Amino acid sequence: MLKHGISVKSTMLAALGATMVVAQGCPDYTTFSEMPQGNSSAGTLKLPYMRPAPICRTFNSSAVEKVIQDITSRMKDPDIARLFENTFPNTLDTTIKYFNATENLAFIITGDITAQWLRDTANQLAVYRPLLASDNNLATLVKAVINNEARYVAQYPYCGAFQPPPESGLSPTHNDWADGVAVNPPVDPNIVFECKYEIDSLCGFIKLSRGYYEATGDASILNDNWKSAIDQIFRVISEQSQGSFDQNFNFVSYYSWTGGNGALSPAVNNNGNGEPKAYTGLVGTHHRPSDDLSVFAFLTPANAMLSVELTHLADMLDKTGQSKNVSAMARRYSATIEKAIWDTTVVDDIFAYEINGYGGRYVMDDANVPSLLSLPYLGFLEKDHPAYLATRKLLLSRGNPYYSAGKTFGGIGGPHIDAWNPWPMSQISAIFGTDDDDEILQSLYTIANNTNGLGLIHESQNIYSSYSYTRPWFAWANSYFAEMILDLAQRKPHLIFKTNTPYNASNASVPVV
Ligand SMILES: *[C@@H]1O[C@H](CO)[C@@H](O)[C@H](O)[C@H]1NC(C)=O
Ligand SMILES: *[C@@H]1O[C@H](CO)[C@@H](O)[C@H](O)[C@H]1NC(C)=O
Ligand SMILES: *[C@@H]1O[C@H](CO)[C@@H](O)[C@H](O)[C@H]1NC(C)=O
Ligand SMILES: *[C@@H]1O[C@H](CO)[C@@H](O)[C@H](O)[C@H]1NC(C)=O
Ligand SMILES: *[C@@H]1O[C@H](CO)[C@@H](O)[C@H](O)[C@H]1NC(C)=O
Ligand SMILES: *[C@@H]1O[C@H](CO)[C@@H](O)[C@H](O)[C@H]1NC(C)=O
Ligand SMILES: *[C@@H]1O[C@H](CO)[C@@H](O)[C@H](O)[C@H]1NC(C)=O
Repeated sequence: MLKHGISVKSTMLAALGATMVVAQGCPDYTTFSEMPQGNSSAGTLKLPYMRPAPICRTFNSSAVEKVIQDITSRMKDPDIARLFENTFPNTLDTTIKYFNATENLAFIITGDITAQWLRDTANQLAVYRPLLASDNNLATLVKAVINNEARYVAQYPYCGAFQPPPESGLSPTHNDWADGVAVNPPVDPNIVFECKYEIDSLCGFIKLSRGYYEATGDASILNDNWKSAIDQIFRVISEQSQGSFDQNFNFVSYYSWTGGNGALSPAVNNNGNGEPKAYTGLVGTHHRPSDDLSVFAFLTPANAMLSVELTHLADMLDKTGQSKNVSAMARRYSATIEKAIWDTTVVDDIFAYEINGYGGRYVMDDANVPSLLSLPYLGFLEKDHPAYLATRKLLLSRGNPYYSAGKTFGGIGGPHIDAWNPWPMSQISAIFGTDDDDEILQSLYTIANNTNGLGLIHESQNIYSSYSYTRPWFAWANSYFAEMILDLAQRKPHLIFKTNTPYNASNASVPVV
């Protein structure tokens, strides 16, 4: 499936004959992003300006423009400045397919596929969090995304990717990859794009909600839709923390998913239930954040994210005076999961990526967040924790089966593409996870040098050919890169700025006195 400059997901989209909803005369951004567009940066990499023309942008924010101006004018390297200028607004420029503030609904696509992923949106929008307090329209957009997702989660808590809300008048997209898949409980393809169960999708919904609340203090998101969604999330947590077998060795199944018999998706062991798991206190998942099948059900980094997000959820519920039983339950699960991570996934300071509760451990990492490399970014532990340092060292070496490196590019990939196509996203996670200046610069330039001259962040990059990559339009990866730059702007200004003065994007709209 890997072709020069052709994305797996966009290949799939083309095969579906799907069309993007774009303003008249505006190019499809998948095609647009495959070729250099505007003038080049003044740096050695000569990266092109890749923002769509103003009339083609799907959302405008003067706060975003202000931050672009502030950051790029401070930067010492015009190439990094250009990357920030292209990536920071990418989600707003290209992916807001529907937004109606009156209806409190917004539909945001992942990029080159017309579907809304819970995980992707949480990460696509996280980068704008510092601006929510000062840009009301942007805050209203995020609120509308949360409300739309609350509806999805309340109805289909086991699914992760969805179709446009009916109010939008946008047509659902047919997903070839869901053809021939048997999923239980069954789903309506006019609402659900793909029903892979990934616990981190639900964490994404919580992260987006509490991030919005923390930034704005607006508790109006906690409406009936949202409360139903939270109830469903706890149902899933309870169901998926149980062992597979009951006393009579019945396989207790709350969710199953399997392909086979000519379907594009593979058959899954045990009638679509996957490998058996024994109780540990962790919450099981069926697919990974990459949308690939899990080998073992207990995915350590997803549980780390869950533990962190449940505590934030409880804090928000307490601050807003919501029912105490839900916040108490959130804190209880958060503590149980955290303890189980330390008790059952770590051996000699090395975290396993997945375990099954029977002693089975898979030591590896996959590029997508939540990953083990991103544990500090997720807020689970500090960058200098001995178990993180030891695990990180192993993950960025041949000790990790999905690490690889060539002459110009290297990092962590995963079976989603293959071991020879690591993801720039893994280098971003590596930067969030260290205070070492040399390591940060090494990762930053490994990313910058490998955009295929296109000035955007791609899904994966081949280690043997600098012209082979996947997904020219991957909004989450663009947002994650920009979020990392905003982090460096505060934490390590001297590495990217002409001066050593930190820059806080939250202060962007505060007038300088
Ligand atoms: C680069 O392109 C932008 C947008 O098209 C334009 O506004 C700007 O003047 C150009 N800059 C140079 C140096 O050509
Ligand atoms: C964004 O602003 C441009 C003008 O600068 C306008 O043409 C475009 O329609 C605006 N986009 C939206 C979604 O409002
Ligand atoms: C938003 O939705 C309301 C209620 O359905 C409708 O009356 C209004 O025209 C919509 N606004 C836009 C800009 O589409
Ligand atoms: C929490 O309490 C409310 C009523 O006070 C009830 O409706 C809700 O189902 C309870 N939720 C849980 C998770 O126990
Ligand atoms: C990036 O490219 C520049 C210029 O070709 C080179 O000097 C530098 O070593 C490269 N950095 C990395 C980390 O690959
Ligand atoms: C941002 O503003 C706050 C006060 O509003 C101040 O404490 C903080 O130092 C500022 N941060 C930066 C990086 O300018
Ligand atoms: C950035 O500014 C905001 C708002 O003034 C403040 O709450 C936050 O703590 C600041 N962050 C840092 C790292 O200084």
